[in-house]
This record gives sequence, C-alpha cells and structure tokens, in this order.
Amino acid sequence: MQQPVDTRSPHSSHPAPAQVLPAVLAAADRGFDRSTERLCDFLRIPSVSTDPAFDHETRRCAEWLVAELRELGFTAEAAKTIGHPMVVAHHPGVGPDAARRPRILYYGHYDVQPADPLELWTSPPFEPALVEGPRGRRVVARGAVDDKGQVMGIVEALRAWHEAAGGPPCPVTLMIEGEEESGSKSLEPFLHEARERLAADVCVVSDTGMWDIETPAITTRLRGLVYSEVTVHGPTRDLHSGMYGGAVPNPVNVLAKILAELHDGDRRVTIPGFYDGVAELPPATKAQWESLGFDEGEFLGDIGLSQGYGERGRSTLERTWSRPTCDVNGIFGGYTGKGAKTVIAAHATAKVSFRLVSRQDPERIAAAFEAFVRERLPAGCRAEFERHGANAAIEVRESSGYLNAAERGLRAVFGRDPLLIGTGGSIPAVGSIARILGVDSLLVGFGLDDDCVHSPNEKFELACYRHAIRSHAAMLAEFAALERA
Ligand code: BES
Ligand code: MN
Ligand code: MN
Repeated sequence: MQQPVDTRSPHSSHPAPAQVLPAVLAAADRGFDRSTERLCDFLRIPSVSTDPAFDHETRRCAEWLVAELRELGFTAEAAKTIGHPMVVAHHPGVGPDAARRPRILYYGHYDVQPADPLELWTSPPFEPALVEGPRGRRVVARGAVDDKGQVMGIVEALRAWHEAAGGPPCPVTLMIEGEEESGSKSLEPFLHEARERLAADVCVVSDTGMWDIETPAITTRLRGLVYSEVTVHGPTRDLHSGMYGGAVPNPVNVLAKILAELHDGDRRVTIPGFYDGVAELPPATKAQWESLGFDEGEFLGDIGLSQGYGERGRSTLERTWSRPTCDVNGIFGGYTGKGAKTVIAAHATAKVSFRLVSRQDPERIAAAFEAFVRERLPAGCRAEFERHGANAAIEVRESSGYLNAAERGLRAVFGRDPLLIGTGGSIPAVGSIARILGVDSLLVGFGLDDDCVHSPNEKFELACYRHAIRSHAAMLAEFAALERA
C-alpha cells in the first residue's frame, strides 16, 4: 500500500489507522453484495434459542459464525456453556502499535425469537427475501435486524479491515451469545469463567436503533426488565359453571381482577414501592429529547394508532425511555377453543413484565408483585410464581473518550451528528458485562422503528446494513487512535 511518509504514526513504519480508513471503506463497499449474501446465509439458519426443537440449528449457527471469523484471522470457538454455545473470537490487531491500543470487545447475539405466527409472514422467515421497499432494498427474515444483521455489520467491518490492512488496528474480542432472547442463563457463569480472555477497555454493542434512516444514534439508556409468570389455582378440578358458578372462586375472574388493579386511573402502577428509585429526568435531558423532533404521528401511525396511552402527564418519549411500566404479555386459562363451553377452570395464568428505569431494584419489584397478588387472593385460591429474569436499567455516561470517538466515526460515515437517545428495550448483558468484567458498553445500533423486531416480516434495510458496516469500520479507526485508558 502506498502511504506518504508524513502520514505514518510516529513510532513505526505502519500507517496510522485514520490513513488506512479510506481503503477499508472502499473494501467494504466493493464487497457489499457478498456481505449481503453472507448475511442471508446466516439468516437461513433457524437459531431459535428458546425452543429445544432448534438446538441443533442453534449450534450450527454458532459454528457458521466461528468459521467466518477464522477466515478473518481470528482465533475463534463455539465455547461450551450450560446452555447454547458462546461464540468467542480474538484478534491481537496488526502492526507493532496494536498491543498498546484500546482493547475492543464486541457483544451481540446470534439467536433469534421464534417466528410465529407463521401465517402472517409474506415469505418464509428462514428464507431471507431481498425486497424492494420505499427506502431501497431490504432483507426480510427472522433475525434480520435483531441481531444477525447488526452482528454482520461488525463482522463485515472486520472483514474490510482484514482485506485492506491485514486485520483490525487494535486488539479485538467478540462475544456473540446464543441465549439473549431466552434468558441468558449461561452468560454470567461464562463471564466469570472467561474473565481474562474477555478483558477489554470498552464494549461495543450493536443491538439497538438509529434515530431515522439518515440519522445515526448512540443509545445511553436501556430499561431493565422483571418478568414473572403467575398461576392462580382454585378448585381442584374444572367445574360446570352452572352447578358451581357464583358459589366458588373462579381463578380466571380472580386473576383478571388482580391484574386490573395493577394500574390506577392515571395509568400509574399501584404496587407499593414500585416508584422507589425512579429519578425524574434531568431538565437538560428533557430539553434535549424535546429538541429531537420526535414524530409521534408516524410512530403511532405505523401501528395503526393515532393516540398514545400511558402514564398521565408524560410524553411518548418519556413514557418509553424514562418511565417504568407493567404489561401483561400473555394470559390464559379456561376454555380457549372454538365455540362455547360452560366451565370454571381450576387455574389461570398470566405472564407479566415490568420495564424498569433508574435505580429501581429488580428483586424488590419481583417480590412486591408476588405480595401484591397474594394479598388479593380470596380464600380457597393460591398463587404460584415462576420468575423469568430480573435486570436493572442501564445508563451510559453521555461523554467519554470512547463515546466521543464513536460520534466522530458516525459523523464521518453519515455526514451528520449522531443523536443521544434512549430506548424502551432491554439488553441484560450490558449490566452483566459492567458488573463482572468491569467494562462499560457503548450502544451503537442500526435498526429502525418499523423493522418489525420480534414480529412477522422482520426486516433490515440494506441502507442500514451498509451504514452499519461502514460505521463499525470507521469507529474502529477512531478507537485505535485513542490512548488506552
Ligand atoms: N435487541 C433487543 C433489545 C432492543 C429492542 C433494543 C428494541 C432497542 C430497541 C433485544 O434482543 C431484546 O429483545 N431484549 C428483550 C429482553 C430479553 C431479556 C428477552 C426485550 O427488550 O424484551
Ligand atoms: Mn437483540
Ligand atoms: Mn430481541
């Protein structure tokens, strides 16, 4: 490669990362069609982590990713865990300066949500379709944006560095998990066990969204999540609702009444202590969010609504980014088949989740919910609970060397400043990585609100995919120019 002498870094004959970047971006652009084919290969493997019927495919998916990373000069393995394999890969970086530069850890997930309801897909969920949309071509498949497309944004950026410079400019480790969508039970044990191998100065997570298709974003707030399943038991068997109705507790009625009591007339959650630790938004953050020009009409119109609904006196952005919530995610019991059956069921179940913010304590909220239900049970009923995870909210510092470097990289690719945003979603790994590895995360994602995450016809715009690859390539050059903290 030709490089004029005065562009080289002071202590070596290797060109500085910023000087190599144009060649890296050119390699990314040249290879984009192949990058899209590789993403489609990844999407064809149905790595549904929650369903044991897909265990073999989930493993095959991990191994596919390992093979890709080995091609790029990484030592990589599908590490054994108590659950699905963890893909771990490492590259020491190229050139004599690499060892002194910041160590970058990338986190993402190769598992996906189940594809159901299948009948609502316009093409089979694991046969990626390239479809022309209003903003150019898009790939439609389960996992397109959450998170395979975003993981491939990182992998293909590393491929561009490999092709143009022989490898990344700094030490790089990837940890791509296979259980993010199903409770991450292996993650924390694995982090403890692999602490040394995962040592890093910053963690980059690509599993969130942009502001809009032209405007990149860095997410600085993730909500936490408590998920509890409650079953109310009443009579020892299903009963004729004529013979017994009105004289015995009906678990479906009982559960429905308790769930209805979870919110008051202002749509606030009524569980005692629920708002403990919830901070009001700092005025500067509130003002920044107001200046974003959020298009509520578009956000709601996309899902067939014209009016928001939630805690009284709060804007839609506040409600999703900075306020805690309670939602019933599923409810069942009694007769749910066709036609009518006059029955009082012996039990009824609801899956209830809480999104948490600020310093709300997940354990206390899970326990307070259980107490709330138990206190309201009539004689003759009892409740059983199953917890499916409890994670606190995350807030990322809004200014740091790494965040500023990411901003410069994004600005170089998009030609405009990234916005600092929140999200209503949760990524439990971010908290675990901070706690166990002592590493802060930077959340830079490339999804759009209308990508149908977890829904039928999930998609990723190819424009977003291309921006993801270019942005990760550019951010890596910026990170490499920083002093290791
Ligand atoms: N990538 C999402 C989180 C997300 C969604 C971030 C939308 C930003 C916008 C992640 O894969 C996810 O779905 N998380 C789950 C939690 C997990 C414990 C199942 C969530 O938020 O429900
Ligand atoms: Mn995700
Ligand atoms: Mn998800």
